Amino acid sequence: MSSTCTIVGLGAHLPRTIITNADMERMVDTSDEWIRTRTGINTRHFSQDNEPCSVLAHQAALKALEHAGLSAQDLTHIFVGTFSGDYNLPTTACILQDMLGLKGLPAFDLAAACSGFLYCLETARAYIALHPEACILVVGSEVTTSRLNLEDRTTCVLFGDGAGAAIVTGQPRLGGIRIVDVMLKADGSVGNLLTVHGGGSACKPVLGAPIGPEYFVQMNGRDVFKHAVRFMSDISISLLQRNNLVPHDIDLFIPHQANIRIIEAIAKKLGVNMDQVYVNVDRIGNTSAASIPIALTEAVQSGRIESGMKVLLTAFGGGFTWASALLQF
Ligand code: UT7
Repeated sequence: MSSTCTIVGLGAHLPRTIITNADMERMVDTSDEWIRTRTGINTRHFSQDNEPCSVLAHQAALKALEHAGLSAQDLTHIFVGTFSGDYNLPTTACILQDMLGLKGLPAFDLAAACSGFLYCLETARAYIALHPEACILVVGSEVTTSRLNLEDRTTCVLFGDGAGAAIVTGQPRLGGIRIVDVMLKADGSVGNLLTVHGGGSACKPVLGAPIGPEYFVQMNGRDVFKHAVRFMSDISISLLQRNNLVPHDIDLFIPHQANIRIIEAIAKKLGVNMDQVYVNVDRIGNTSAASIPIALTEAVQSGRIESGMKVLLTAFGGGFTWASALLQF
């Protein structure tokens, strides 16, 4: 695998509409107190009808290109991690390719739920190993609200919409972020704990039939919680071990932002202090595949990460899929 895989630009975009816990109280039988104490979430962003997945992805991509000092014409590939694309067909990556005016460029969506961005990042590393000249736009973009049952209080309070993007190249660059290593895992045997079945070939839509709850996120929260903590902790330690590191060597952890209690439990398992952990779940909730690139972009832009730092990313999502990535700034 190429050792010169570098992130040269980052960008994030959140829809303007902010939904508070008080707003959620008006939608379902819940309370600000329950949401805050069980999840750590105070607000989340909801897309409007004119802001589908591709529009959020486009905004994040433009910001990442600007940050990289590149133009869209410099790109060679587009990968989009999402489970809430604009349509089944065409893919969101193809819509984004058209928005960027890049006819002919290979573009595809990758379905790995909340781990989608890190799965795309590893795919980008593999492409760069084959094509060292590649300059790849990697996006995590989600309109999770399009897959939420807004009458189901056990899921609808947890998620939000947004997008994050990275430009990945095979060329070392001053100020670039080196992707040192990535590890991916999956376990389909427990996939039924977190699902969106409706519309698939095993759960076919029937013309004129009502849309049921199976068309939206359904989750066994308690079991998903336990798996999320175990899998993200284990893969973080495995990736560090593979690179002869221990958690203490890491300057900043950026875990998937699903629940502050999950994040705290992972930090405890790794033996790291919460001030070494980046948290934005309080402001934006769980944005699925967009969670990691939004948090990484915020951490860089807020000056939280300085040159020379090691940063560990870890994600977990439906499938189940989970992943970890080690970055050297
Ligand atoms: O992105 C990756 C996928 N997602 C996750 O990683 C999420 C993982 N799971 C979780 O974060 C947590 O399990 C939840 C936040 C979803 C739930 O927290 P919990 O502490 O596991 O609560 P619970 O599911 O055990 O429910 C406790 C009670 C239940 O009432 P009873 O049966 O004890 O009377 C629920 O009906 O809380 C009730 N409840 C709510 N009450 C008010 C569930 N949702 C709500 C709500 N408001 N929104």
